[in-house]
Amino acid sequence: MKRVAILISGSGSNMVRLIEDMQAGDHPAQPVLVASNDPAAAGLAKAAARGVATAAVDHRAYNGDRAAFEAALLEPLLGARPDIICLAGFMRILTPAFIDRFEGRMINIHPSLLPKYPGLRTHARAIEAGDEEAGATVHEVTSDLDSGPILGQARVPVEPGDTPETLAARVLEREHQLYPLILRRFAAGARERFDI
Ligand code: GRF
Repeated sequence: MKRVAILISGSGSNMVRLIEDMQAGDHPAQPVLVASNDPAAAGLAKAAARGVATAAVDHRAYNGDRAAFEAALLEPLLGARPDIICLAGFMRILTPAFIDRFEGRMINIHPSLLPKYPGLRTHARAIEAGDEEAGATVHEVTSDLDSGPILGQARVPVEPGDTPETLAARVLEREHQLYPLILRRFAAGARERFDI
């Protein structure tokens, strides 16, 4: 049974879907920790309510010293002995040293059809570009931001009159389908791309 730690920063709706899928049974992985850089993240209580251990390491206490923040984050993280780390709405950029330590074992969900729109404001950028399609990508995390090998994508149409908010809501629904599916495959050892 693979051990999965999930890093969040906010509401944690993707994290909840990952946990629910793992806890539904017949899954090659189990959730062992949910950690947040924001002690006020609503997702922490949702994880605890599902019986998953939680940790909060407030990045603001480290005054921009990423290495010191990561050293503090590593304490609960390594304590949980994860085989796989899922970033799920985790809004801190990780240093190459941190990423290298978990190479091949860390995955992320990003709300765009990568390689389009790495970084922030993905939905606004898709609308501004006049794209007919948007979506989400699950990829392996490498030290190139949002550029690691793609494990799977889900697509949605961009509708006339979409705002970044309406498009984000449509994409998020698909994120909730995509991420559990890709984690299930990844935990079983699959690395080839799978689009839904
Ligand atoms: C998702 O759209 C995710 O792709 C992005 O941030 C959002 C997090 O939502 N990086 P949640 O915390 O999983 O609800």
